[in-house]
Amino acid sequence: MKNDIEKIFFTEEMIQNRVRELGRILSADYEGKVPLLVGVLKGSFIFLADLARYMDILCDIEFMTVSSYGAGTKTSGEVKITKALGSVIENRHVIVVEDILDSGLTLEYLKKYLSELNPASVKICAFLDKPSRRQVPIIADYVGYECTDAFYVGYGLDYAGHYRNLPFIGSLKPEIYS
Ligand code: PRP
Repeated sequence: MKNDIEKIFFTEEMIQNRVRELGRILSADYEGKVPLLVGVLKGSFIFLADLARYMDILCDIEFMTVSSYGAGTKTSGEVKITKALGSVIENRHVIVVEDILDSGLTLEYLKKYLSELNPASVKICAFLDKPSRRQVPIIADYVGYECTDAFYVGYGLDYAGHYRNLPFIGSLKPEIYS
């Protein structure tokens, strides 16, 4: 699997250092609020697992599945909820946890959807932010790293379902796509 990687952009150490920092920041910002972390599957599962362990305050954890990319590398533009939230979020402080903010279509849709369920607040925490690709003006409240317009895999990010389990984030060799 590692032989398929062309370049590593974010090493395991960089990722863990930054997630530890985000965990500290969220713990301070949400002290006494028992936030609800909502992981957007599948991509967020590793980031959320690390982030939650770096938080030292009480929190609840939920997952939703939202899909717009299918097996390809370009967004279809149409966002679908394929697994709904398992609990009521009314009056809760919600933090949506994402592996990547790209066109912004997924998070724009989700933020609107969740806001209509009367939470106390909805904030976004995305590990990677690719501002150059944004199609809608959505901004993450907490970001791990801003990144360039490459196609990344690892740390939850996939190509055709694979590579999510790499502990670093990198790009694939071009021959892997063909
Ligand atoms: C990825 C990622 C985000 C979304 C971001 O999900 O996890 O949810 O795309 O892209 P956007 O800002 O352009 O909407 P994907 O649909 O690939 O599903 P996955 O999480 O199962 O990999």
